[in-house]
Amino acid sequence: MAGVFITFEGPDGAGKDSVLRRVVPELTAHLRVPVLETREPGGARISEHIRELILDPANTEMDPRTEAILYAASRRQHLVEVIRPALAAGKVVVCDRFVDSSIAYQGAGRGIGEDAVGALNNFATEGLTPALTVYLDVPASVGLARINAHRRDTQFDRLDQEKEDFHDRVRAAYLRLAADHRDRIVTVDATQTLDQVCADTLAVLRTHLAAYWQE
Ligand SMILES: Nc1ncnc2c1ncn2[C@@H]1O[C@H](COP(=O)(O)OP(=O)(O)O)[C@@H](O)[C@H]1O
Ligand SMILES: [Mg+2]
Repeated sequence: MAGVFITFEGPDGAGKDSVLRRVVPELTAHLRVPVLETREPGGARISEHIRELILDPANTEMDPRTEAILYAASRRQHLVEVIRPALAAGKVVVCDRFVDSSIAYQGAGRGIGEDAVGALNNFATEGLTPALTVYLDVPASVGLARINAHRRDTQFDRLDQEKEDFHDRVRAAYLRLAADHRDRIVTVDATQTLDQVCADTLAVLRTHLAAYWQE
């Protein structure tokens, strides 16, 4: 495939949205090829329907494996309709979250197995793997604190503790993935100021995309 597939990963509150908002315009300005920014479900109609099923608060009985299969199905359709055509057209595709998120959240967070979720997603993607993954690393507590910053009630209740344990498992899985795929995953310390995180991220992208970069 002609294009370059890049994904952004990290726990909730790591800063993926904030960093992409600043960095993607830089890519668009400096790359010799078109840039497509996307995120699941990425405007693919079927993917959106599937996503609604997953996120519908009425679906309290949803089994964790059902959830993992639905995420993989939604991803598959987004990949077929959006990511693959853009790569075939030679674009640099930047996607907010991809398979690593499922391995971390469903595999480790929900505890149904990182290898099993990896295999399921390998079927969904036919092995399409990002050329580069920028992993924005923060401890779960930092990400959650950022998200909850607007909350007046700062009491740490039992539900929050469960949430924090879940997010600790997610982060641990991300760190394992980063250690196991050093050739693909670059870790950026996302506890730094947003300016510094963006600068580090841009440096990583610039190095990786040197062949396409123009001043
Ligand atoms: N480096 C940073 N330092 C402090 N706050 C940050 C930083 N990056 C993001 N934030 C804040 O944290 C919150 C979550 O950021 P967001 O970009 O939505 O993260 P994500 O998309 O990874 O969940 C936002 O309120 C954002 O302003
Ligand atoms: Mg986000």
